[in-house]
Amino acid sequence: MEVTRDHLGLTLPLFLFLLLSPGALVTGVSDLLNEGNNITDGNTLVSADGSFILGFFSPGVSTNRYLVIWFSVSNTTVCWVANRERPVNSTAGVLVFSDTGNLLLLDGSGQTVWTSNSTTRAAPGVAQLLESGNLVIREQAGHTTVWQSFDYLSDTLLPGMKMGKNRWTGSEWYLSSWRSADDPSPAYRFVTEANGLPDNTLWDGSTKVYRTGPWNGLRFSGTTEDATYTDMFKFVVTINDGEVTFGYTATPGTPPSRIVATSTGFVKRLVWEESRKRWETFLQGPRDVCDAYAMCGPFGLCNANAPSTSFCSCPRGFTPAFPAEWDLRENSGGCRRSAALDCAQGNEGASTSSTDGFMVLQGVKLPDTFNASVDASTTVEECRARCFANCSCLAYAPADIKVGAVAGCIIWTGNITDLRYVDGGQALYMRLPKSELVIIFHTYMSRGNCLVLYYISYGQSLSDATDPAASRRDPASTVGSVPAADPSTMIEATEEFSQAGICVPAVDLPSIKAATDDFSDSNIIGKGGFGVVYKARLNGDIVAVKRLRPSGRTEKGKNDFTREVKVMSRVTHINLVKLVSYCQEEDEWILVYEYMPNKSLSPYIFGENSSPRPSLTWFQRLEIIRGIAIGVEYLHNKEVIHRDLKLPNILLDHELKPKIADFGTAKLFIDDQTNPTLVQTPGYIAPEYAREGNLTLKCDVYSFGVVLLEIVSGKKITSAKTFLLDAWRYWNKGKIKALLDSQVAEPNHQLSLDLSRVIQIGLLCVQPMPNDRPTMPEVVVMLTDSSSWLARPKKHEVGPGQATGYPQTSNYSLAHCLCLEQR
Ligand SMILES: *[C@@H]1O[C@H](CO)[C@@H](O)[C@H](O)[C@H]1NC(C)=O
Ligand SMILES: *[C@@H]1O[C@H](CO)[C@@H](O)[C@H](O)[C@H]1NC(C)=O
Ligand SMILES: *[C@@H]1O[C@H](CO)[C@@H](O)[C@H](O)[C@H]1NC(C)=O
Ligand SMILES: *[C@@H]1O[C@H](CO)[C@@H](O)[C@H](O)[C@H]1NC(C)=O
Ligand SMILES: *[C@@H]1O[C@H](CO)[C@@H](O)[C@H](O)[C@H]1NC(C)=O
Ligand SMILES: *[C@@H]1O[C@H](CO)[C@@H](O)[C@H](O)[C@H]1NC(C)=O
Ligand SMILES: *[C@@H]1O[C@H](CO)[C@@H](O)[C@H](O)[C@H]1NC(C)=O
Ligand SMILES: *[C@@H]1O[C@H](CO)[C@@H](O)[C@H](O)[C@H]1NC(C)=O
Ligand SMILES: *[C@@H]1O[C@H](CO)[C@@H](O)[C@H](O)[C@H]1NC(C)=O
Ligand SMILES: *[C@@H]1O[C@H](CO)[C@@H](O)[C@H](O)[C@H]1NC(C)=O
Repeated sequence: MEVTRDHLGLTLPLFLFLLLSPGALVTGVSDLLNEGNNITDGNTLVSADGSFILGFFSPGVSTNRYLVIWFSVSNTTVCWVANRERPVNSTAGVLVFSDTGNLLLLDGSGQTVWTSNSTTRAAPGVAQLLESGNLVIREQAGHTTVWQSFDYLSDTLLPGMKMGKNRWTGSEWYLSSWRSADDPSPAYRFVTEANGLPDNTLWDGSTKVYRTGPWNGLRFSGTTEDATYTDMFKFVVTINDGEVTFGYTATPGTPPSRIVATSTGFVKRLVWEESRKRWETFLQGPRDVCDAYAMCGPFGLCNANAPSTSFCSCPRGFTPAFPAEWDLRENSGGCRRSAALDCAQGNEGASTSSTDGFMVLQGVKLPDTFNASVDASTTVEECRARCFANCSCLAYAPADIKVGAVAGCIIWTGNITDLRYVDGGQALYMRLPKSELVIIFHTYMSRGNCLVLYYISYGQSLSDATDPAASRRDPASTVGSVPAADPSTMIEATEEFSQAGICVPAVDLPSIKAATDDFSDSNIIGKGGFGVVYKARLNGDIVAVKRLRPSGRTEKGKNDFTREVKVMSRVTHINLVKLVSYCQEEDEWILVYEYMPNKSLSPYIFGENSSPRPSLTWFQRLEIIRGIAIGVEYLHNKEVIHRDLKLPNILLDHELKPKIADFGTAKLFIDDQTNPTLVQTPGYIAPEYAREGNLTLKCDVYSFGVVLLEIVSGKKITSAKTFLLDAWRYWNKGKIKALLDSQVAEPNHQLSLDLSRVIQIGLLCVQPMPNDRPTMPEVVVMLTDSSSWLARPKKHEVGPGQATGYPQTSNYSLAHCLCLEQR
């Protein structure tokens, strides 16, 4: 690049410059400054492509002169300042070469106010402003660079720069903000923390004020908006014995961009918007009250969406350390354990016996890892075992959530600091004593003949359970990106707890009868092989009451019912229809679900005429697909195989968020062999399940793939025997349009790319061999991270009877299928 620079001759900005400043002809008229020449105030260097300019500048209202590099698109946007702390007070400043080949900035009196400090001499040397915005000193003849401005960061990180630490020499590169708009001397520091996992941290003097959260292999744990621009910028995070650094590169063609630490104590990622001639903010931190470092003190948990000012709470098993202050919103004292851990300690904290368990906090920005120990080479299972076996371990989490990564292990032994809920956050596993885990299992004595089961609250505290708003808590989406993770606390029980039924409250039959007008036909909203569904009002809430058919009420059915209630109450997620209650009295077996006003997805996808079909945009469709994937992933995490994923089983809430329904229920109750097709919906079943009854999580992946392709195409899988083969063929030829529902407005270019990618994911899911299909967690990452790598789906054959995903017949006995596989 450097070689050709001289031949480029007059670039446009340079040409203009010559016209406007004829006096400048002698010096500074290119991107090069040779030894012996100088740059005086009013003259500039311009990078070969015209994007960066080096010259003298006065910030804001100041009359001081600084030698700076600015963006040519915006002559007030300075990205580098040489003499930050020693301004020149007149226009007599001049940039010259010293006898040692360094650049010197001299003021009017000939005093050096700034120098490049290279100890190596390039002879003869030349200074050049590169197209990246980097000012380098190199040999005139060769390519050896002896000094570069990219090693001396100001407040701005450009693509190609990096910040972090050299572990050998201890030297550090960090951003430091200007003191004010008029004064470029350094104030806030933005540092890539090298202890624990890399974490970009903003400091005001010696006080930490904000963290982006640790690097998790995909992004920084607390800044999930990163996922929305992975097509423009790629993170470059290096962690090895020699260095811990962070930087980024921009995809060619991306407009000018920068990360800047501002004089007001923010870190922003800005991208130039040419049509409006301004910088658009892609990310800003701290973004809300919970981003203030250690807002809720040690072990405190911050929720930015909590009502009014009560952002801080204590995780389960903890109470405020100073309740009086806490009540007055003075939360810095944090939380302390309600009961001590039970861990008998041998040498160095090795536990000889422990009855402790782990509670998982979903959807959080991982706490400060400064004092945590990180091991990138272990699995999560090993991590858990390691934490359990060491009494000093208070919490653990995987270190790398990238698909295909070993996961790794972060172990916290000290205070858990700066913990908050965040949209699209991660899981943190906190150690709790058995007694605290047991409190969660409030014994619930049911009335009538209803089973004695247990009750669990899903909010942050027990009182939350009665507050319907708590279960709907859904951190405000930042950049309509990653669908919100359900931030509810959930229990991950240790072995002994998995025996205990975690359950929902029972309700008595008279209440159900009253709610449904004694099962009045006028309240029926659905019918199926399992029984009838009624709309009802129970305790003021509108619910769906599912009354099971008498033929299902056998001894085996009773076991299934009990297990079903347990399974259903164990799974609670924003993308699953929630079981609210149940009743088993007299001869009635009844399940009560939350009511979904917008019913099933089917009419939105397949509807004819005046249906809502055309109004469901591509964007909404993609969001729905992601929501379904996240719901199924959650089920799989809980060892539940849905087995009957299909469009009619996807319901929509008032915000058109998808909720998976009917998991387990229908299947478990249909014990009669006369109507097996009820459970085996043609087209949706994985071929190996239809053929040989091989039931694995991959069966759901297959059905999910079919659902995905249906949502995109608006066609039923059963509409053509060659549905999947056609999809594969069109996709393979790049004829995406032929695959898209023509009733929906044609997607723009970016959406077409997204849709093509989503179709590819769908095709991967419906591959004939289960082992070829991705797992649901992999599918979720593929759908959320548009930069993740996708394999080529294998071709679909249309053979006799199978492989279209459309089996002919099968009489596999469904009674063998359990929805719950114990670990
Ligand atoms: C800068 O260059 C001009 C023209 O070559 C020369 O007259 C002047 O003395 C130089 N200034 C310094 C400070 O070297
Ligand atoms: C920046 O550009 C604008 C518009 O081209 C011009 O009016 C202004 O004087 C320039 N400012 C500086 C400091 O060069
Ligand atoms: C500029 O600075 C020089 C020395 O640094 C000083 O002698 C001179 O008085 C200053 N001029 C003004 C206008 O402040
Ligand atoms: C050059 O070295 C001096 C003395 O070691 C130091 O004060 C100054 O900050 C250095 N300048 C740069 C640009 O590194
Ligand atoms: C327990 O964990 C701490 C902190 O990681 C470590 O220093 C100690 O060696 C561990 N003890 C054992 C027995 O592994
Ligand atoms: C790390 O440990 C030191 C020493 O115990 C403590 O002062 C510091 O606050 C800890 N930092 C964090 C982030 O927990
Ligand atoms: C943990 O927090 C408590 C309460 O703020 C403090 O007294 C203690 O020093 C902290 N421990 C560490 C290791 O930072
Ligand atoms: C979804 O249901 C709500 C409440 O019944 C209704 O107001 C809304 O129009 C429905 N949305 C669509 C897209 O049908
Ligand atoms: C189904 O299971 C049987 C027995 O475990 C196995 O031999 C067969 O390969 C499996 N089929 C598929 C398609 O995985
Ligand atoms: C149905 O079951 C019978 C008896 O178990 C078996 O012979 C037959 O092959 C099965 N049919 C199919 C399509 O699997």
